[in-house]
Amino acid sequence: MTRGKHIIAPSILSADFANLAQECRAVEKAGADWIHLDVMDGHFVPNLTFGPDVVSSLRPHISKVMDVHLMISPTALLLEKFIVAQADVITVHVEATPHIFKDLQLIKNNGILAGVALNPGTPASVIKPLLDTIDLVCVMTVNPGFGGQKFIADQLVKINEIRDLIGARNIHIEVDGGIDITTIGTAAKEGANVFVAGTAIFKGGSFDNPEIYQQNILNLRTLSHDQ
Ligand code: DX5
Ligand code: ZN
Repeated sequence: MTRGKHIIAPSILSADFANLAQECRAVEKAGADWIHLDVMDGHFVPNLTFGPDVVSSLRPHISKVMDVHLMISPTALLLEKFIVAQADVITVHVEATPHIFKDLQLIKNNGILAGVALNPGTPASVIKPLLDTIDLVCVMTVNPGFGGQKFIADQLVKINEIRDLIGARNIHIEVDGGIDITTIGTAAKEGANVFVAGTAIFKGGSFDNPEIYQQNILNLRTLSHDQ
């Protein structure tokens, strides 16, 4: 997996929770590159979603990359279970753990891509000691916890700083929160290459009306100015 082609990652936070498997299959068929799974604990963030058992159950229904975004604290408590669930990418928040380096090492040592997520108030410089350990930096462009929030444009400069810190290393820059047809272009211009979108992909469609998903994904891809 190398940086290059832009990656569109629908967040199933905006999908129909009563039909998650069908929703994953529908967005894959509609052109998604990765499927983004938001795990929330009602403690690190003020919302609850699903845990490792649901992630394991979804694994057979995701043939592409399963991108797990952990918003749980303490991170280490359940980390092994998400590794066993065979995630392809596991991203942990630097604010949610006293042992970010150790958590990332555990992910990497299990052959899984290791991501670090930064809340809007966290500076880019925190990734400096992690650069040789991580495969992905997730820049939160909303306060984590809910879909459908407004993109925080102040984060654009951080994406740019992260791109400079990464240099020639093969590390993805993911943006998460408020990505739609009006924001994806600027995020891409600053250096992001993985675009998480919940509302902008799932709104208006359903797994039995997937043409909407296809159009939404295509619109985002086009406006990210991908080749
Ligand atoms: C927020 C989640 C996001 C969220 C994005 O805590 O990490 O992945 O689903 O939703 P939208 O695209 O609606 O902002
Ligand atoms: Zn997310």
